[in-house]
Amino acid sequence: MIGTPVEDLETPAIVIDLDIMERNLEAAASYARQHSLRLRPHTKTHKIPALGKRQLDLGAAGLTVAKVGEAEVMTRSGTPDLLVAFPVIGASKVARLLAVARERNVTVSLDSIEAANGLSEGAVAAGMEIGVLAEFDAGLHRVGIRPELLFELVEAIDRLPGLRLEGIAFYPGHIKKLDETASQEIAEAGRLLDQVLNRLRERFPIGIVSGGSTPALWRSHEFPGLNEIRPGTYIFNDLNTVLSGACTFEDCAARIHTTIISTAVPGQIVLDGGSKTFSSDRPSAADEVIYGQLDGYPDAKLFRLNEEHGWVRIPDNSQFRVGQRITVLPVHICVAVNLQDQVYGVRGGRVEEVWRVEARGKVQ
Ligand SMILES: Cc1ncc(COP(=O)(O)O)c(C=O)c1O
Repeated sequence: MIGTPVEDLETPAIVIDLDIMERNLEAAASYARQHSLRLRPHTKTHKIPALGKRQLDLGAAGLTVAKVGEAEVMTRSGTPDLLVAFPVIGASKVARLLAVARERNVTVSLDSIEAANGLSEGAVAAGMEIGVLAEFDAGLHRVGIRPELLFELVEAIDRLPGLRLEGIAFYPGHIKKLDETASQEIAEAGRLLDQVLNRLRERFPIGIVSGGSTPALWRSHEFPGLNEIRPGTYIFNDLNTVLSGACTFEDCAARIHTTIISTAVPGQIVLDGGSKTFSSDRPSAADEVIYGQLDGYPDAKLFRLNEEHGWVRIPDNSQFRVGQRITVLPVHICVAVNLQDQVYGVRGGRVEEVWRVEARGKVQ
């Protein structure tokens, strides 16, 4: 498999341009260094311990995951530190988390007393201590306690045995497109952050202030007090990142290689990948219904997916043939990677790495 010309890989396949990926990793590591931000990349994008190790080798302080199952797999990267940026609810998950925490520093971000109590009970029973970040809502309105209730939550975490208050966290996922609105959203989230930090620091030692996403990555230094970022998508980037304005097509390392399986319907071609390849995610910062951008064919629209069929509307008189390979920039690379057993790292047109997506499906 190593050394295979990329055009000989069976499709659909996710192919990573290693030069671009390495450039993306280095750019974020250097930005973090320049602004004295701790980098704890979210590994939900690649789900591959070997890539987590590359991020650590480039200076990441640790790795982030969403689920305990991902944490269990990411231990194979050799990381000394893991952030589970997702509340861990339920005694059996807490027990699994504590097993991971036996050999490395583990921190959990959470937004409720219930989550804190469950973690505390498990940690005390195991005779261990777990790091905690209290998560507040900076504008996404998903997970994260209302800023005015954060003090109370931090107080409870500080009081509970088995928990070590490490700081606070937020996720600026509402910032999807770097336009004028985003500047206001960043300023507003920054004001909130400043307020909560001023109040909390009168009473508590708030060490870690964790935020960051890929769309807002290069503007992380505008959040006052932020000292840790957790971007995930930046390693590959995708159509969403391009549409957000945080990168260009040239910064996108991952493509889905496909083959045309039918040209039977005039004005249309069909690719050999559908929702089981691309996922059904549509652009988060655009109204158009598309599932990816075809390289070299800006006017072709991947407009509909069945499980294994990708429907592409093509301009009149365009020339396509059955068997032709088409590469597509997916809308959301993280979910696409989760659908594959393996991805291929390519340099100079040949396969240099084959990585098993070891944490795919680890949603528990
Ligand atoms: C809590 C949390 N942190 C960090 C990230 C990484 O964000 P991005 O994929 O924009 O880099 C995510 C993404 O979903 C997230 O949910």
